Amino acid sequence: MSNPLVGILMGSKSDWETMKNCAQTLKDLGIPFETHVASAHRTPDKVAEFCIGAESKGIKVIIAAAGGAAHLAGVCASKTHLPILGVPMKGWAVEGLDALLSTVQMPSGIPVGTLAIGKPGAINSALLAVSILALSDSGIRDKYLAYRKQATEKALADDDIQP
Ligand code: RP5
Repeated sequence: MSNPLVGILMGSKSDWETMKNCAQTLKDLGIPFETHVASAHRTPDKVAEFCIGAESKGIKVIIAAAGGAAHLAGVCASKTHLPILGVPMKGWAVEGLDALLSTVQMPSGIPVGTLAIGKPGAINSALLAVSILALSDSGIRDKYLAYRKQATEKALADDDIQP
């Protein structure tokens, strides 16, 4: 794979079960990415080091997934001006509402674009990252438009239920 354009950070290896859907979506669209387990509370220096070095490595968007008191995306946003997309993980309580609020409720000044809880958010974070990349890359734009066209065609073809 060529140089990564997207960085996926996860607070724990246990988030991979959900975030593999993000990775697969990026793969489907041919977007190079790298993936790391890095936690805002367990390994904060690793998070900071990755975010500070991301731009010089060619990374354009960072996706940060975490559960519980999910401050990973906010910490990433504090360390880089690159767009940060936060994905709340379902975790072990309240169906991920804790992570959703922790990720989405950033005080003004340091933004995090927050996606839905769990698998839909994981997939959409990849698609939103691709739409950001498509702004400045016509090859990625073409691939993204083709992907969306295919998704529309599938949805139309699904209208074949015989009651
Ligand atoms: C968060 O705590 C992680 O992002 C994960 O979603 C959650 C639980 O982590 P583990 O205890 O499974 O490692 O930091």
